[in-house]
Amino acid sequence: MTTPFDYSRIPALPPSVYVAPLKRPAGLGDDWLERAQRRYSADEHRIWDDLYERQIALMPGHACREFLHGLERLDLGRGGVPDFNEISEELGGLTGWSVVPVPMLIPDHVFYYHLANRRFPAGNFIRTREEFEYIKEPDVFHDVFGHVPLLTDPVFANYMEAYGRAGWKALKYNRLKALSALYWYTVEFGLILEDDQLRIYGAGILSGPTETVFSTEGASPNRIHLNVDRVMRTDYTISDLQATYFVIESFRELFHLTEQRGFEPIYESLAPGFQYAKTAALDTDHIYHRGTQEYELRGGRGSGAKPV
Ligand SMILES: [Fe+2]
Repeated sequence: MTTPFDYSRIPALPPSVYVAPLKRPAGLGDDWLERAQRRYSADEHRIWDDLYERQIALMPGHACREFLHGLERLDLGRGGVPDFNEISEELGGLTGWSVVPVPMLIPDHVFYYHLANRRFPAGNFIRTREEFEYIKEPDVFHDVFGHVPLLTDPVFANYMEAYGRAGWKALKYNRLKALSALYWYTVEFGLILEDDQLRIYGAGILSGPTETVFSTEGASPNRIHLNVDRVMRTDYTISDLQATYFVIESFRELFHLTEQRGFEPIYESLAPGFQYAKTAALDTDHIYHRGTQEYELRGGRGSGAKPV
């Protein structure tokens, strides 16, 4: 049974639901949207170009076909930070999505509201040279290079909208963390099988320099077939390489696994925290590769361990 939600309005935040205490900058409305995309300096445009050049070289043999196709269609390497109006126009014609500027990470319920209405919120700033290798907050490069190309794919575009709509139910059941894990292991760090080869569709991998090889070829991480119930119970790593990657066979599979589910039975049976450690490989998993977890066991990023 489905609950009729009004997806055209920002969902109410039930009093018991915890969201990060983000402070909305002055002058922004409840939707957290900036009135316009900021104007970037020549130096900032060059940072985009340099990031683009580095990432594009890593794409062949790693990024999935739909992502590469989207990159090409949107011509994100035309020089400098892309104009959101131009991208939105092209994207709108393909799948009805647009890209809208936000100042920083926005609260979950506002994020769901935009996704449910086919708007992708993208950071209205770009990292500095000092942050070239790694940034904490998703900037315009992560958001546009990493996420937007796949929004040209009709099935993936539908998945993102369905994900946004699922947010209403997660709020109702106070299970935001579970739904976040699904986003993390699909939209940010997902792998897909393409003619029996592992390819990447997760924006968190595709927009950074170190994880493309580690995620698809590294001995350390587990690679397990995606099971939505399992993923929603699994902890994840926020600021380091993942200990486990989940693999799908197609975007159609991903869409059906989530869209056709009510999620109610999951939310009703889920404890508030995570049940499985991020390194876990279960008897019930369909495992493609059981990781050695060497990178994780050596202490990860802070320890200087090699991502192998
Ligand atoms: Fe992201």
